[in-house]
Amino acid sequence: MTPVVEVRGLRKVYAIEGGEDVVALRGVDLTIDPGEFVAVMGPSGSGKSTFMHIVGLLDRPTAGTYRFAGHEVSSLDADALADLRSRALGFVFQAYNLLPRTTAMENVELPMIYAGVPADKRRRAALEALDAVGLGRYAHHQPNQLSGGQQQRVAIARSIVNQPQLILADEPTGALDTASSEDVMALFGRLNVERGMTVMVVTHEADVAAHARRMVMFRDGNIVSDEPVREKALV
Ligand SMILES: Nc1ncnc2c1ncn2[C@@H]1O[C@H](COP(=O)(O)OP(=O)(O)O)[C@@H](O)[C@H]1O
Ligand SMILES: [Mg+2]
Repeated sequence: MTPVVEVRGLRKVYAIEGGEDVVALRGVDLTIDPGEFVAVMGPSGSGKSTFMHIVGLLDRPTAGTYRFAGHEVSSLDADALADLRSRALGFVFQAYNLLPRTTAMENVELPMIYAGVPADKRRRAALEALDAVGLGRYAHHQPNQLSGGQQQRVAIARSIVNQPQLILADEPTGALDTASSEDVMALFGRLNVERGMTVMVVTHEADVAAHARRMVMFRDGNIVSDEPVREKALV
């Protein structure tokens, strides 16, 4: 089985003008196989977002190798990276990042517009993705007519609509109350189990990470533990 993500010796150094360089990643090795649901945990400043941005082809490492779905991506130019990103990756952010005054369905259609999918096919796929997150009835609502949890589920529908090989979520529950956080994480769990989607969620909250099946802990730019998540005890 070809891993979805295979990084070796990944380093990231931010050069600060007039100051000392910041070493955000100090040589990270990680392999994620298809069908995994991984939580990346660690305190603020430990390198989680930097790692996610590199894995998501939004940024480049200073050193190290990265094979995405078997292809070395370090040498790809910006256009090739953008193309691969739009075809193969889905993103979910803390702040939902939905377009205002634009319906849920149109928001979900956006990645397919970038990918050049024809309109009728786009609409069908958008509705299907909204159904998958339990929001089929809200297709024509705009973000300001939806709760935070619903907006995040629209963002998740948008992230899966191109059937990406990997979904990356950075603190997806950071702006949500406990109940909505549980809904959103349970949704990732269903997408993982029922649709075999490969998911990596970055979070600093243990309750959130407990929904994943594997937990990778960052500290000071290193991975300090990597363990299966134990099933929650049934009370
Ligand atoms: N664009 C940047 N420029 C300079 N330093 C950065 C930048 N992004 C992150 N850092 C620094 O890199 C380290 C890791 O940050 P980050 O990856 O955001 O950690 P986390 O997501 O775990 O909070 C921190 O010291 C942070 O200040
Ligand atoms: Mg972060």
